[in-house]
Amino acid sequence: INPSVDLFDAIEQLKKEKNAIILAHYYQEPDIQDIADYIGDSLGLAQQAAKTQADIIVFAGVHFMAETAKILNPAKKVLLPDLKAGCSLADSAPTEAFKAFKAQHPNHVVISYINCTAEIKALSDIICTSGNAEKIIESLPPDTPILFAPDKNLGAYLNKKTGRNMLLWNGACQVHEIFSVEKISRLKMRHPEAKVLAHPECEEPVLALADYIGSTTQLLKYSHTDTAQAYIVATETGILHQMQKDNPGKTFIPAPPNNNCACNDCPYMKLNTVEKLYNTLLYELPEIEMEESLRLAAKKPLDRMLEISK
Ligand code: 13P
Ligand code: SF4
Repeated sequence: INPSVDLFDAIEQLKKEKNAIILAHYYQEPDIQDIADYIGDSLGLAQQAAKTQADIIVFAGVHFMAETAKILNPAKKVLLPDLKAGCSLADSAPTEAFKAFKAQHPNHVVISYINCTAEIKALSDIICTSGNAEKIIESLPPDTPILFAPDKNLGAYLNKKTGRNMLLWNGACQVHEIFSVEKISRLKMRHPEAKVLAHPECEEPVLALADYIGSTTQLLKYSHTDTAQAYIVATETGILHQMQKDNPGKTFIPAPPNNNCACNDCPYMKLNTVEKLYNTLLYELPEIEMEESLRLAAKKPLDRMLEISK
């Protein structure tokens, strides 16, 4: 990249020239969030992807999110700045193993969390996100046998919340499993005024400490409308940028991981950079491509989710 290029101006220019839109998740680095046309949680991003009029979608997020955009927009070019931006949760459900698990429970309705590959989506009946999961589950009669994949922590939380007894696939997110209950409890003692906000991908003992549990958008909304002045935030650190921007007077403390790593940063989300975003827009690469039969099979449960979430 020519060092004299102002990347922010150049990205704006390319967006206009190419009728491109940048969709970004809250876990992206602050500069990417600031340059995005839309920032949101997985549900909001899927809804935006479904209705955009742009010719090119640049997805500043991870692979399953860009795949979702492609499933909904076969005629559009969907770009992901770094194809290695995967997801440990999506990786925890390999296709063949999941197919075998599903075959053992043929009478179960399969609800899959959107954090999964297109192949897993194609094997599912309905998709959900953390923002709409309860609504999706409640759309089924109470005695419906349900298989929930791939996040066991979200699944266990939903079982408790809805009183269902869904069969859970044994998957998890490496970022949300890293928080230390002991360290959060000690932080709470030092900041007794602070409320704990947690994402439902966290393990049960962390959720038990939370004052409020929700998707990234829901956590953001809660921190805005609630009257507390300080919050301990148990999810990926990227969300703190919007929380701080929306609430300049409030204090937001990232919940500490159980060792001294920076593992409450998602290594996949953080692969995207402004430089890569610029190159992606300029060269229109790397592009998400998908076989049509897989796309159509994965679209069915996604459409069902979007219909229920209207
Ligand atoms: P939401 O933004 O939908 O809450 O998802 C969180 C997440 O882990 C995305 O990878
Ligand atoms: Fe996947 Fe977890 Fe990263 Fe989200 S935070 S993309 S669930 S690894």
